[in-house]
Amino acid sequence: MSYPYQIRSMDDYTTAWKKSVEDPAGFWSDVAQHFTWKKPWNRVLDWNFRDPSVKWFDGAQLNITENCIDRHLADKAHQPAIIWEPNDPNAQQRILTYAQLHEEVCRFGRVLLNNGVKKGDRVCIYMGMIPELAIAVLACARIGAIHSVIFGGFSAQSIADRLLDANAEFIVTCDGAFRGPKDIPLKSVIDDAVIRCPFVKRVIVYMHTKTPVSMIKGRDVWWQDEIEIVKQSNQHDLPAETMEAEDPLFILYTSGSTGKPKGVVHSCAGYMLYTAYTFVNVFQYQPQEIHFCTADIGWITGHSYIVYGPLSAGATSLMFEGIPTFPDAGRFWDIIDKYKVNILYTAPTAIRSLMAFGLGPIHGKDLGSLRVLGTVGEPINEEAWHWYDEHIGKKKCPIVDTWWQTETGGVLISNLAGITPAKPSFATLPLPGVQPMLVDEKGNEITENNVTGNLCIKAPWPSTLRTTYGDHERCRVNYFATYDNLYFTGDGAYRDENGFYRITGRVDDVLNVSGHRIGTAEVENAINMHSGVVESAVVGFPHDIKGQGIYAFVIFSGNQSDQELIKKDITATVNRVIGPIAKPDKIQLVSGLPKTRSGKIMRRILRKIAEGELENIGDTTTLLDPGVVEEIKKGRL
Ligand code: WTA
Repeated sequence: MSYPYQIRSMDDYTTAWKKSVEDPAGFWSDVAQHFTWKKPWNRVLDWNFRDPSVKWFDGAQLNITENCIDRHLADKAHQPAIIWEPNDPNAQQRILTYAQLHEEVCRFGRVLLNNGVKKGDRVCIYMGMIPELAIAVLACARIGAIHSVIFGGFSAQSIADRLLDANAEFIVTCDGAFRGPKDIPLKSVIDDAVIRCPFVKRVIVYMHTKTPVSMIKGRDVWWQDEIEIVKQSNQHDLPAETMEAEDPLFILYTSGSTGKPKGVVHSCAGYMLYTAYTFVNVFQYQPQEIHFCTADIGWITGHSYIVYGPLSAGATSLMFEGIPTFPDAGRFWDIIDKYKVNILYTAPTAIRSLMAFGLGPIHGKDLGSLRVLGTVGEPINEEAWHWYDEHIGKKKCPIVDTWWQTETGGVLISNLAGITPAKPSFATLPLPGVQPMLVDEKGNEITENNVTGNLCIKAPWPSTLRTTYGDHERCRVNYFATYDNLYFTGDGAYRDENGFYRITGRVDDVLNVSGHRIGTAEVENAINMHSGVVESAVVGFPHDIKGQGIYAFVIFSGNQSDQELIKKDITATVNRVIGPIAKPDKIQLVSGLPKTRSGKIMRRILRKIAEGELENIGDTTTLLDPGVVEEIKKGRL
């Protein structure tokens, strides 16, 4: 057995799940024994969902980086911890062994300290997918600073909102990032963001693309220069800061159905245990294997299954800077062939976009090293599942369909590769420690099978979100108040006769575009900032590649002689306010929106129109102006 807590058979799974539910404290303290603690815990679990208050391993002290790095130095010092494949296939790859990662994290931890970062301070990290991003994340954890990583596709305005919300006085960024044929000027975006955030004290800039940047005296410093200073001081090690189990580890902003993104907070001990446990069990990781998660570290998948999960299990994690279609649509397959990747973890949207290129790009690539395939982020359609199974896994690799969320920190529902059964388009069974249930609209539990309902979780798992930064009430209202004493996921699910779960999608106003979560209200707010826009309504529609596309209905008051230009301006406004990831796929200018007499927009009707179900719109008699529906139907894009 490779890991003492690795489930190796269906019976093991059944026993583990049962024990985790009957005796969560006993179950998780058994797992916890296999980690490094500075001080043991007093109590394994203390919780109520009413406040909510969730505490795991209270009283214990630890540092997650000792578990992700130091403890592997004894036997894995020379094993690669991170393999980095650059955007440009001809550029130099990089490999960081555990010993090298230790050195780099300690050095950059000292850079942070030298620049005034203290335990508990919030550090915003806005970088491309280079090893320094992982190093910056771990260096924050090393000194007890709270990282807030922001995905490179967000605009200056989104960054400023997040800096303000977290009162982050420190930023780590790059001059630029390579993404396919593009060079994205990250530092210049940061400069625009910081205009609204004069409290930012220090911006540390890693030179990567050699894009010209403005460096402001007294505020901006080069990463490389600061590392040089540390090297000259000859201080190699940096003792890991002592953290309480429940101290916050990081903030990660995510979209909800209302208002601005929420800063989901995860804490040290529970997050560490759960990401390691799920990494080892879902993928059935075996020592020495190469794990390739194609997500960006700017999202939770990258946090949990590129950085913390694999490293705390002493794995080798492959990090890729580029995109699947650059320089051509065979890039993933080249990488798998080049490094002999064993586990590939990606999003259905990536699979669908690569399917569209046919089998040519796979031809001649040796994918024989693959042992396990995984998907995450959105429901996978059967066609994509079978393509992945046949053409990538060659029908030899179990596919794990992993359902989870930023708020859950790690995978909650998934089959375990080769151990529990897979079923196309089903996430299947809960991980040990997870008690899913379906409820009806009124919040009553639905106990039978072959039903759909709203998906809730009955009790905390170790990496339950602890709060939303700076606003605990928002956390309570969003996740713990819809149904009494339950965590509400915002997803709907179907449960089959075997108790397997199939996630049917969000039941709130959150879209899932290419596996990225975007709130319709957020996009509407951005569109409404355009000076000519009176009002807008945004809904999702099925999109072959992205899963869901963004359809915006917009009432525009200004001169409408050039509709195409208006649409481009609206798109530019959304890019400016949120970032390119929220760009509407379709914008339809309308003279009115379907509203009830009380003024509420009937999104149900707009959704039907966007989906093309024009015959099936339902009752419109309660509308203020039923005529508007006909007009919108006629103008449908
Ligand atoms: C959706 C990503 C179906 C779901 C880890 C969830 C999925 C949201 C799956 C969270 C899956 C994630 N099958 N739907 N396997 N995985 N989702 O926070 O709607 O970016 O609520 O976390 O993605 O997105 P987030």
